[in-house]
Amino acid sequence: MDGMFVYILFFLLFSLACAFLKKQNRKPEKSAKLPPGSMGWPYIGETIQFYSQNPNVFFAAKQKRYGEIFKTNILGCPCVMLASPEAAHLVLVTQAHLFKPTYPKSKERLIGPSALFFHQGNYHMHLRKLVQNAVSLESLRNLVQDIEALALSAINSWRNGTVINTFNEMKRFSFEVGILTIFGHLDTHLREELKKNYWMVDRGYNSFPNSFPGSQYQKALMARKRLGKIVCEIICERKEKKLLEKDLLGCLLNRKDEKGGILTDDQIADNIIGVLFAAQDTTASVLTWVIKYLHDDPKLLEAVKTEQKGIHKTNDEGNLPLSWNQTRNMPITHKVVLESLRMASIISFSFREAVVDVEYKGYLIPKGWKAMPLFRNIHHNPEFFPEPQNFNPSRFEIAPKPNTFTPFGSGVHACPGNELAKLEILIMIHHLVTKFRWEVVGSQSGIQYGPFPVPLNGLPARFLGKSSS
Ligand code: HEM
Repeated sequence: MDGMFVYILFFLLFSLACAFLKKQNRKPEKSAKLPPGSMGWPYIGETIQFYSQNPNVFFAAKQKRYGEIFKTNILGCPCVMLASPEAAHLVLVTQAHLFKPTYPKSKERLIGPSALFFHQGNYHMHLRKLVQNAVSLESLRNLVQDIEALALSAINSWRNGTVINTFNEMKRFSFEVGILTIFGHLDTHLREELKKNYWMVDRGYNSFPNSFPGSQYQKALMARKRLGKIVCEIICERKEKKLLEKDLLGCLLNRKDEKGGILTDDQIADNIIGVLFAAQDTTASVLTWVIKYLHDDPKLLEAVKTEQKGIHKTNDEGNLPLSWNQTRNMPITHKVVLESLRMASIISFSFREAVVDVEYKGYLIPKGWKAMPLFRNIHHNPEFFPEPQNFNPSRFEIAPKPNTFTPFGSGVHACPGNELAKLEILIMIHHLVTKFRWEVVGSQSGIQYGPFPVPLNGLPARFLGKSSS
């Protein structure tokens, strides 16, 4: 009898396991259909509608019409857009292996094909760990004073009250922080050379890719070559001097895989330039939005000032440097940063491509189609963030529902630089509110895309030192 029972139990478990495995490997059922939506005109799809209006309005209107999953065609690519947290989580986390990252070739050439964003699997994982290591909390702790010095140097140059383009100034600041994180303290001449060429690549990055000599894209490609050479020069010098630094370049140079293999200079250069790109415009546009949101809400600005002045006072009216612990204990300002990340959602969506047919909730995402989690739509869904158009940092007193707040993405390609970005924003805001008042010049509303959303014209503003107020 006992033997019979064990046999039946074994049979049941075996059948359950088979059913489970079958479900896991299941091909999309024949009944799975494409999501609702419109594919627009032959070839061009809905590219014109996408580019001729604010992309956020485009996606929001589609979601209203078709629901949280809909199809479209942009730049000749059939896409499935995913505006629900569960669907985004599926693509980025639970079924990430069924999707690969995908970027236009023109951008890949400018950044460098070995940069981690373009890869998956072991190579990606190794590189990601190295970047994570260079910007881990442990490493950032040691950068606070240097970032503070960079913030002070930037804001002191605006003291004379001339109108500045806030976004451009924040770009300069985040570039310097990027250089510091990657190279530590770099020789001024090399830094200037890097800056000059990086700026040319930056200008060409969003220009129309073509092979006309003298076009912005071609100039950017030439500057990219020079950038690679400068990075290789720096690598040579490090190798000659046998310097063991803990910055990102140090982490990349010291990396050995299981077989003792090291990264080539080109792989290192591509990743360094990739990180500079990933770190600069993103952080600068969020900083610009924080400054705008604070400017637009005097009561909130007062609350942030009170918090920061408390720290300033503890630091002997600014005679002592900010400490790591102080940067981790700015609850009001931190919530302002989170709400700015939600409200501005500067990375509105991310791109993946299905490597096999995938079925989700009865819908088919065909192999080769793009799958795009729409972060912004989720961040602006009143079901998860009530009255989403209101800037309300106190909503972050309660943690958002799982997978609904992903300004830094999610899963294996999520942003490794999120803590660095928040740190530099907090340090800059500390010094701005304790030392300045500022007024926006010209239009107070309007957004421009380049490609991240920033306040119109980069938020022209006049920063007045407290003594001149
Ligand atoms: C507020 C500023 C920032 C925002 C909003 C942001 C956002 C993001 C997002 C959404 C992704 C994921 C993209 C995807 O899944 O397709 C990402 C990836 C990445 N970010 Fe950031 N980022 C910021 C700052 C930084 C900084 C300061 C660094 C410097 C280390 C950085 C380095 C990277 C890298 C290397 C990746 C690619 C990771 C991978 O593919 O594994 N980011 N970022």
